[in-house]
Amino acid sequence: MCSAPLGATDILADGTPGPRTLGFYEMRAKGGAAAVTVSELVVHPDTDGSQMLKLSLATPGQLGAFAYVADAIKRHGAIASIELSHSGQYAGTYMVDKKKKGALCQYGPSDGVRPDGLPVKALTHEQIADIVAAYANAAALAKRAGFEMVMVHAGHGWLINQFISPYFNKRDDEYGGSLENRVRFAREILSAVREEVGPGFPIELRMSGSELFDGGYDLEEGCRIAAALEDLVDIIHVSAGSYQFGFSITHPSMFREHGCNVYLAAEIKKHVSVPVATVGGLSDPAQMEEIIASGQADIVVMGRALLADPEIPAKVMANRGDEVIKCLRCFVCMAERPVTQTRRCAVNPRIGREFEGMAIAPTAERKRVLVVGGGIAGMVAAWVAAKRGHEVILCEATGELGGILRTEQALPFKIDMYNLGRTYALLCERAGVDIRMNTVVDAAYAEEVAADAVIVAVGSEPMDLPIPVDPDVNVLTVEDLYLDGAEVGEELVVIGGGLTGCECALLYARQGKTVHLAEMRDGLAIDANIRQRPILLAELEQAGVDEVLCARAQRVDKDGVVVETPDGERVLTCDTVVCAIGQRSRRAAADVLLDAAPFVRVIGDARRPANITTAVYEAWHAAMDI
Ligand SMILES: Cc1cc2nc3c(=O)[nH]c(=O)nc-3n(C[C@H](O)[C@H](O)[C@H](O)COP(=O)(O)O)c2cc1C
Repeated sequence: MCSAPLGATDILADGTPGPRTLGFYEMRAKGGAAAVTVSELVVHPDTDGSQMLKLSLATPGQLGAFAYVADAIKRHGAIASIELSHSGQYAGTYMVDKKKKGALCQYGPSDGVRPDGLPVKALTHEQIADIVAAYANAAALAKRAGFEMVMVHAGHGWLINQFISPYFNKRDDEYGGSLENRVRFAREILSAVREEVGPGFPIELRMSGSELFDGGYDLEEGCRIAAALEDLVDIIHVSAGSYQFGFSITHPSMFREHGCNVYLAAEIKKHVSVPVATVGGLSDPAQMEEIIASGQADIVVMGRALLADPEIPAKVMANRGDEVIKCLRCFVCMAERPVTQTRRCAVNPRIGREFEGMAIAPTAERKRVLVVGGGIAGMVAAWVAAKRGHEVILCEATGELGGILRTEQALPFKIDMYNLGRTYALLCERAGVDIRMNTVVDAAYAEEVAADAVIVAVGSEPMDLPIPVDPDVNVLTVEDLYLDGAEVGEELVVIGGGLTGCECALLYARQGKTVHLAEMRDGLAIDANIRQRPILLAELEQAGVDEVLCARAQRVDKDGVVVETPDGERVLTCDTVVCAIGQRSRRAAADVLLDAAPFVRVIGDARRPANITTAVYEAWHAAMDI
């Protein structure tokens, strides 16, 4: 079980890894990963001005910063590896200030124009030689810094991939045309790296088993590429796709199967004799065991799963696989960096806060803690408090833990979110939390418990539709549909195109129903993060949802919903109306508890309806503050 390259959390202005990057990678070494690969080291900044990690002796302190990172990985028994990369014609992709990428010169195998209109210049022979030497130099420096292995990135549409790909590579010299010519650049790099690092120093080649877009190479050619390079490497690491033409393939989205890329590794494994690694959407220990046991791959690699739970390998080794906090594939990790220059994880609030006292530490003074509400916020708070050694009572008003996450069981693509609630329920039970179901906590109940600390996590409830509704029409919420089994007709109008409304529309459109999705604003899922949103929008389009934007619902009549649009009034006919216009905090239930103990904290949706990232973070910290 190895840790995939996962960017860096705090890259300093000159490309040096900051202290959080050290903590970020150390966490996964400590969690038991066999190898932890630091990414993505730009080998040739002259032709790749991307805002990523750089390693040069000319920058004082830089080598040392990498040495500290390697050291932090190795001290937990993991192999420290580092990824060597060049973005080629996609230089600037990661820039936070997107305007700046236009000022870069983008180099690729061939002259051309990128889809975003930026010109691409073909690399000259001198530049190619210089870049090959730069890979070797970077590998030598990485070895000197203490890394014990390197990963050469030849997949996902970056420079080496651009040379290998018939789509990008239109050269007519010895680097273009036949497959033998297209892999020449990769072979030169791998040979030069080997020369520098010497024998007995593993080189891992990361490649896309298939580019999976029209004009790119397919799996059959992927097998031939792997076979043409295997003599120069120790591990072939098979990923998939191309960053620019299918982000949800390189980073399998929640709409794809877990382990959807395994077939690529399995096929390539038949054509090479070096060990083969597989990556993509893996988080279930049983599935990973099966992949190895059935011989489909020799190594399983996890990216996001180890952000969500860096301790997966340790838990598996201890037969605690059912305690794994699984990645939701929600893309918070990818979305935060371009927006806020930070790294975050929805379910692991320690990511990006490695040195901010978030590690669960035993309390010096055991206290009685009452947690009110058994949704995700309440369960996380209860678990963290119990792990710290407090006596914890968790009260839930209904007969089931999970809160709003219970609704996700109806959505096949959100099943991991539903299961997260179940995992936390198990964790609370195992941590000895006194769980009291069907228990509404009011001021009197709280007084009876006489807790030292009360955490209020009573959550939120759906907002009512503030427009006239025909008394014969039953306006449903997603809870009515997903939890109470309310009947759905053949034609639906979903009012509210936020995340909840979009996911509801998608669910029923995929079942073949006609769905009109009415949104007041001029865009759908505006509350979704910038990575998830385009993927969700593409799914909606593919499912044939009728998207009605800038549509303000006026009234609900017997035969449909009347909306006001810039083009005038429109009647959206339907037999089922779903209201998904948002949530409001259960303020009244929270307010009666504000004086219930010396320490009271209102968290999650009860404080302000937001998202799971906020709920988990507030919960964790509330329990740490007691
Ligand atoms: C936050 C984040 C940063 C990433 N950065 C890199 C990177 O720098 N280099 C790279 O080759 N892959 C990078 N990846 C891709 C992962 O290594 C991995 O291939 C991908 O996430 C699919 O694996 P997963 O489904 O287990 O997450 C990144 C992925 C994430 C989520």
